[in-house]
Amino acid sequence: MTNNQLQMTNFKFTEDNLTKLKEEFTHYPSKKPVVMKALWLAQEQNGYISQEVIKEIADLLEMNPADVLGVVTFYTMYQQKQMGKFHIQVCTNVSCMLRGGYEIFKLVKEKLGIDNLDVTEDGKFSIEEVECMGACGGAPMIAVNEDYYENFTQEKVTEILDSLKQSN
Ligand code: FES
Repeated sequence: MTNNQLQMTNFKFTEDNLTKLKEEFTHYPSKKPVVMKALWLAQEQNGYISQEVIKEIADLLEMNPADVLGVVTFYTMYQQKQMGKFHIQVCTNVSCMLRGGYEIFKLVKEKLGIDNLDVTEDGKFSIEEVECMGACGGAPMIAVNEDYYENFTQEKVTEILDSLKQSN
């Protein structure tokens, strides 16, 4: 099967994830408020939010696919392509920018040899410049997957990349 054929494969939630979503539905008068949870589960299952994922969620939650896509594009936690095993998000919004966020972003790109939203050839790392992640008190900050690193410095860039390179 080619990659193109794979991309056209319909996305279906696993039974386990469907059970979780059905439980969420019981908390709301309509299914729409469950869209963020559904997208998160889909991303965990599929790796990223594809067109097929959007269609499946829209069908399941009785929503317009464009509205589901609107949620995907609004929040930086949703990815529309497969990212690296370690997805590094660097905040360059005001608080982080004033404390060196851009320099950190530039250095991580240089060290990995990739540009914004790219993935390293081995699939291990990807990088994304993001807006405020709500951790301004610890600016500048970066996130590696779901872990936040606050009061980050350029010196710590090499340290963290080296330790991630060694982990499996
Ligand atoms: S400005 Fe960077 S976390 Fe808020």
